Order: sequence, then C-alpha cells, then structure tokens
Amino acid sequence: MASICIVGAGSIGCYLGGRLLAAGADVTLVGRARIGDELRAHGLTLTDYRSGRWQVAAADVRYVTEPDAAATADLVLVTVKSAATPSVAEALKPVLRAGAVVVSFQNGLGNADVLRAALPQHTVLAGMVPFNVMQPAPGAFHQGTGGELEVAASPALQPFLEDFRRAGLPLMERTDMAAVQWAKLLLNLNNAINALANRPLKEELSQRAYRRCLALAQTEALRLLARAGIQPAKLTPVPPTWIPRLLATPDAVFARLGGKMLAIDPLARSSMSDDLAAGRATEVDWINGEVVRLAEGLGQRAPVNTQLCALVHAAETANTRPSWSGNDLLAALRGAT
Ligand SMILES: NC(=O)c1ccc[n+]([C@@H]2O[C@H](COP(=O)([O-])OP(=O)(O)OC[C@H]3O[C@@H](n4cnc5c(N)ncnc54)[C@H](OP(=O)(O)O)[C@@H]3O)[C@@H](O)[C@H]2O)c1
Repeated sequence: MASICIVGAGSIGCYLGGRLLAAGADVTLVGRARIGDELRAHGLTLTDYRSGRWQVAAADVRYVTEPDAAATADLVLVTVKSAATPSVAEALKPVLRAGAVVVSFQNGLGNADVLRAALPQHTVLAGMVPFNVMQPAPGAFHQGTGGELEVAASPALQPFLEDFRRAGLPLMERTDMAAVQWAKLLLNLNNAINALANRPLKEELSQRAYRRCLALAQTEALRLLARAGIQPAKLTPVPPTWIPRLLATPDAVFARLGGKMLAIDPLARSSMSDDLAAGRATEVDWINGEVVRLAEGLGQRAPVNTQLCALVHAAETANTRPSWSGNDLLAALRGAT
C-alpha cells in the first residue's frame, strides 16, 4: 500500500488526510502539537456540505510534529500556507526517499516551484483544492463547498489514484495547471474582501457592494492577464471573463443567475479571514500580490489589488479587527484607482 504523508496538517491537510484515512489509506499527518493534541483527544470527524460524514478514531490517526516522518512516504502532500513553503522545502530536502512524489495542495501560483527548486531529484506537482474547509470544533473539519481536486498530469500519480478515488476525492489530472491556478486565484481575490468584511462568505457575497469590490479586483487582474497572453481556465459554469459582470448585478438577479456561488455553508469564511481572527499573517501577498507582481512585470499598475494588500496588512497589525462595510470598502478601492 502506498504511504502518504501530509505536511502542514491544518484545515486542508487534516481534511484530505482524514478522508484518505477513513477510506483505509496509509496516512501520516505532520503538523503542530496543538492540532495533534486535539486529534488525540477527539479523533477526526470529517463532514461535507452534502451531509457526508466520516469518522477516524484517535487511535487510528498517526499525527507527528517532525517532518522526519516523511522519510518513508511515497507521496507527500504539502498543505502549509504559502509563507511556510520555503521552510517545509528545506525540511523535506534531507528526509525524502528517492522516488517520493510531492504535490502542493496550496493556493497561489509559485509554491510548487519553491518546492521543486529545493527538491530537484523529485517529481513535484502543483495541485488545486477548489473547496473550502473549516474547523467547526476540535478534531472536526467541514468541507463547505463542492468541486474536485485538480493536479498537474503526471504518470508519477498512477500508484495513488485509487487511494484518492476510494476516498471520494478523485484527482482530476490537468495539462493546463498554470491556467487552473490563475482561475483559482481570480476566485481567491475574494479572500481578502471576505477577511476585511469579517462576515461569512455567503453573507458577504449576497451583498452587491462586496461583489462589486470583487468585480473590481477581478477586472483588474483579467485585463493584466489578457495583456500577458494568459487565459485562465474555466472552473465555474460561467467563464472567468463573465464573472465580474455577473457579480455586479443587483442582489435579486445575482441570487437567480449566480446561485452556485452562493451555494456555500452559511458559516464558512475564507481561510484569510480565519488567519486574521487568529492573529496570523495572511497569504494576501501570494494571492492579490501575484496580480501586483504581474502588473509590475508588464510595466503596469494594479491599484485595486495593491490597495487590498495594504488593507489586509493593516488589519494584520491592528489592535482590533476591522469589519469593513461593502460601501466603505468599495469607496476605498475606487479611491485607489
Ligand atoms: N482552508 C481552506 O478552505 C482552503 C481552501 C483551498 C485552498 N486552501 C489553501 O491550502 C493551503 C493550506 O490552507 P489551510 O487553511 O489548511 O491552512 P492551515 O489551517 O493554517 O494549515 C496549515 C498548518 O500547517 C502548519 N505548519 C506550518 N509550517 C509547518 C511545518 N514546517 N511543519 C508542520 N506544520 C506546519 C500550520 O501551523 P502554524 O499556523 O503554526 O504555522 C498550520 O497548522 C493554503 O495555501 C490555502 O490557501 C485553503
């Protein structure tokens, strides 16, 4: 049986690892002591938006804090936030055995490249998690939205495909992973808006003023992508270039036409919102910051995404967490252009 190691077992890592474990895969989770303690006390409970429920007893969860555990892995899934990728890459370098395959299931564009640069002897693949995972209680992880895991196509994945299929998380292999990552990043531009709004995603996206903020950020990114000759993949029923127009429609029209975007668990928030709540640094520089870097490379500006980066950084260091209204945030973004 293939041995799978999850490095950075937080929301995504515990959910993916837990679903694989529940389906009988050989999984080791590497993460922080705090989460390890929770899993030792409560085991793992995985739920999803379709009322799916899977349980793994504490005794059946192998959770450690040191990356040495990856030494026997055939497959390593990296699920840390982007800022931690360089240190994980360095930690894995002396540990991984020859032939081990590494998949980055992280947001942003460059995490697989960071891992590949440190691990040149290994097959390192970019992956994409389309759904939202939150932790409603210690040891409990809930998938709030739908979608399939996507990963750069490679023959090296063959030994693991059955484990993921059996877990109900089939790997969809893609030959256009950069286009997939840009399309996910366009959707993730909402993470900063959701974090600044300090409201559940469903409530935020139900309000036109917040959706207009997202439309501004996406329109700016789409203009730059077109200039750079990059065509984002179609991950949603509507092509990426139509989404800003859909977002800007009145609430009643959006509820009818964009219903799928509102098919979110009522309590789910973006992981950037959770980071602000926990006083952690966010991934904004790896999401909105990628749009700013794309603009710089083209000799252009990206004022809306620059402003979103600045507002999230200000919130990271503020004494009290801001809760921007849609209209105030829209004015702040329009004022930056
Ligand atoms: N959550 C979602 O809904 C979601 C959805 C799609 C994609 N994603 C993406 O998936 C990635 C992971 O997100 P997440 O929400 O699962 O993050 P998370 O809950 O913060 O989990 C990452 C965990 O890794 C730990 N960690 C950091 N460095 C480590 C190291 N060297 N060794 C072991 N553990 C380490 C972190 O601890 P510390 O906090 O102490 O650093 C944290 O507990 C991100 O790129 C995110 O954008 C998330």
